[in-house]
Amino acid sequence: MKIINARLRHSDALYTLECEQGVFTRIQQQVGPEQSKCDLDAQQKLLCAPFVEPHIHLDAVLTAGEPRWNKSGTLFEGIECWAERKQMLTHEDVQQRVRKAAELLISHGVQHIRTHVDVTDPELTALKAIVPLKETLAPYLDLQIVAFPQEGILSYPNGKALMEQALDIGADVIGGIPHFEFTREYGVESMRWVIELAQQHNKLVDVHCDEIDDEQSRFLEVLATAALESGLGDRVTASHTVAMHSYNNAYCSKLFRLLKMSGINFVSCPTENIHLQGRFDTFPKRRGITRVKELRNAGINVALAQDSIQDPWYSLGNGKLLRQVDFALHACHMMGYDDFSQALDFITDNGAKVMHIQDQYGIEVGKPANFIVLNGRDDVEVIREQADVLYSVRRGEVLVERQPAMVKMGVNLA
Ligand code: FE2
Repeated sequence: MKIINARLRHSDALYTLECEQGVFTRIQQQVGPEQSKCDLDAQQKLLCAPFVEPHIHLDAVLTAGEPRWNKSGTLFEGIECWAERKQMLTHEDVQQRVRKAAELLISHGVQHIRTHVDVTDPELTALKAIVPLKETLAPYLDLQIVAFPQEGILSYPNGKALMEQALDIGADVIGGIPHFEFTREYGVESMRWVIELAQQHNKLVDVHCDEIDDEQSRFLEVLATAALESGLGDRVTASHTVAMHSYNNAYCSKLFRLLKMSGINFVSCPTENIHLQGRFDTFPKRRGITRVKELRNAGINVALAQDSIQDPWYSLGNGKLLRQVDFALHACHMMGYDDFSQALDFITDNGAKVMHIQDQYGIEVGKPANFIVLNGRDDVEVIREQADVLYSVRRGEVLVERQPAMVKMGVNLA
């Protein structure tokens, strides 16, 4: 496959890229625009690595309103609604919804997904339905599965045994939810147990950590310390960490030293948390998004994610990761030019680091020929215009081709 007239990130030049047997074999700077024979003319648009969705709950997608709507909009009513919907899960129901959501995500340029799957279910119905999809969907995307204990590890009957079973069935990553455990002590114990389990099974870790507006919720320091002392470091991810929004600055300053030393990754879900948090506030209302800008500025890896697509916690969602970037830039005061030029990192390279797939990810000779072409010339235009994905290519095969919308103007004011 030969691609011409592509712009790459952080360069004004145009490039020709070639791939054979699904791998990039040549990336060459052009002198100017070309008209040579090719398989794909990028027409001077931005070509970059595919989007990475490092935190979504595919088992719950497309269930909003079933069996009832989350009327308060809070996270905790969301968990209650989900506990009811969970009883209605079947293998077919889960597989059908996951396929539909995967198709939506693929259509918007996503080729790498980490999904949390609730394993606080004695039957593990959702997990058993999703594990075989890893292989089915492999031609289109990489799927990592987190064994996610939605109702707790120590606070749910046989919680530990269910987590271990989930690994036997095929989960790739170990999850946790310390702030939802019955007691602080359970939360702390669960974090230490998760890290030990990851060491035993050589797995990655991704914890829903402190997803609560309680400034006293401080499991992040426990997780980061365990990651540091165990040596797991960047194999560990803390998702959400919204309590950090409410921590006092003196504590946060001390905490950041540990976070940096530990090497752990962060995932923030801006639309989800701006919607779910601040629910117990009158005015002023907290935004409830973790300190994305400050973490990034400290050299800590932060990725952005959607968390939900039409589920009991968040009834909107459309598979477009650029929407998360837009929200984060606004809500986290990242509106400077340098912020814009780094912003695509949040949904590309940084997510790849979270998923530990860096060696197979990126526009480089020798790496898989996976890429997208966006309807914009550079990062800033792509972000400002919320640009459509014109092509998504995987292993040199076109998965998605989209024609830009044609608008006929009845006025001419220029
Ligand atoms: Fe989540």
